[in-house]
Amino acid sequence: MLLYKIFFTMNFFQNIQSFLLIIILLFSFVNCQNIPNPRSQQTSSLIGNRLYFFSGDLSTTDSHNDSASNVTNEVWYLDLSSSFNTATPPWRKDVGMPIGYNLGASCVSPIDNSVFLVGGRMYIPNTANINLGSSPVYVFNSNISLWTTPNIIGFNSSFKMRNQIQPVIDNYGKIYTFGGTNYTGFNASYVDYNDMNILDTTSMTWSTLAIYTNAPPTFVSYTATLLPTGIIVYIGGYKDTLTRSIQTFNTKNYNWSTKVAGGDNIGTRVSHSAVLTQNGEIIIYGGSIWNDTTKPATPYIAKLDTSSWMWSIPNLSQINSPQLCDHSATLYGDYMIIAFGQIPSKSSMSYASLSNNLYILDVKSYILVTSFNPNQTLPPNKSTTNQTPSPDNNLNNYLIIGIGVAVGIVLLGGFSVVGFLLYKKQNQYPKFIPTPGTTDRI
Ligand SMILES: *[C@@H]1O[C@H](CO)[C@@H](O)[C@H](O)[C@H]1NC(C)=O
Ligand SMILES: *[C@@H]1O[C@H](CO)[C@@H](O)[C@H](O)[C@H]1NC(C)=O
Ligand SMILES: *[C@@H]1O[C@H](CO)[C@@H](O)[C@H](O)[C@H]1NC(C)=O
Ligand SMILES: *[C@@H]1O[C@H](CO)[C@@H](O)[C@H](O)[C@H]1NC(C)=O
Ligand SMILES: *[C@@H]1O[C@H](CO)[C@@H](O)[C@H](O)[C@H]1NC(C)=O
Repeated sequence: MLLYKIFFTMNFFQNIQSFLLIIILLFSFVNCQNIPNPRSQQTSSLIGNRLYFFSGDLSTTDSHNDSASNVTNEVWYLDLSSSFNTATPPWRKDVGMPIGYNLGASCVSPIDNSVFLVGGRMYIPNTANINLGSSPVYVFNSNISLWTTPNIIGFNSSFKMRNQIQPVIDNYGKIYTFGGTNYTGFNASYVDYNDMNILDTTSMTWSTLAIYTNAPPTFVSYTATLLPTGIIVYIGGYKDTLTRSIQTFNTKNYNWSTKVAGGDNIGTRVSHSAVLTQNGEIIIYGGSIWNDTTKPATPYIAKLDTSSWMWSIPNLSQINSPQLCDHSATLYGDYMIIAFGQIPSKSSMSYASLSNNLYILDVKSYILVTSFNPNQTLPPNKSTTNQTPSPDNNLNNYLIIGIGVAVGIVLLGGFSVVGFLLYKKQNQYPKFIPTPGTTDRI
């Protein structure tokens, strides 16, 4: 009897051990599930201390083939209030969007912190099928993880499915969206635009500005950055000019003007990202050259001083620096957080290499850091995060958060004549043939 008891106890402990082992295995399995798949063309926004990433294309077969898209509705976020290592970011999944979504952009209302996803291509999730019943705007309340669609007064139906755009929101809750295209697939007719659409989120009214004589031509896949002065700076996009002449739009008087930037030579780019620093510098990162998405933009990092309109190229070490397009970039204190995207040197017509990596660039020293420490980048007591610099509180604020999202790519997906010609040219290029040894993935 005693012997039996001893046996029983041993068995019991062994059972407990295996039970624990199973629990641990299950837990790590669940943990593995908690890493987002590589993706590109997502959009991101900082809401308080949470950095959100909305949707994107998961397709690993051919990012330029619209019928091979796999557009997700997933929403992921990172909590930036505690430290982590870039190798193991603390990913959390939130309630997914009602639709699959890419090539649009999100902006956070300075009034109530709700997120507006404006324009973009909308799909039946995890398919390449456009969702014809989608709303032009989706709103996310991150406090209660709730998605809603607003009733917009005077919506201009030509804006439906408008993509490869970057809206910006001002401190009064007005969202400005320039141009874009309603291209959604090979067989549908589409139009490229150079209009300015404004959504006043306080009254949910829509207006389309008449096209001014000095408005830029149609362009897509640009970045838009709102300065504290109320001026929106447009950089890059599909237009055959160097980044030297920069289009700006004044949200105070609705005037367009062109700034001719000096300083270093900056090559053309699309599908790059841009963030605004507290010193009034716009840092652009990544992208590909405007007429060949397989070639990374050069230099792949540059900064524009928006008081002198001078470009300079930071001395960022080329080694270990990722080259990405259709990624996201967000400034949090002195950290530029770069995430997801496509590696342009591999983004040939037949094969796209996507990333789910996270890179953190310290924009004071231009060094890539592997550990994120909120106390090192923010003063301890100041927790106000101001995503959209306003005329009133901007440059004095210790923390101005610039958000940039690389928008668009899709060499085949845009702009009429140019797009078609490029497509023909692109097809003549040797296709990238992936072999086990050829990886420049970092
Ligand atoms: C899309 O991606 C998801 C996640 O990787 C996968 O489960 C699904 O099968 C994919 N769908 C298609 C149509 O490729
Ligand atoms: C784009 O807009 C034009 C004009 O409104 C329309 O004729 C066309 O069908 C639209 N294309 C798509 C793909 O929605
Ligand atoms: C809607 O947008 C189109 C394209 O920019 C423009 O031509 C049209 O005038 C706009 N309609 C209104 C009512 O503003
Ligand atoms: C891309 O455009 C530049 C001019 O901006 C031109 O010199 C170059 O040949 C073009 N490349 C291709 C692949 O068309
Ligand atoms: C980068 O380094 C070079 C020489 O090492 C120097 O001449 C240049 O001014 C530096 N640029 C910046 C932006 O610091």
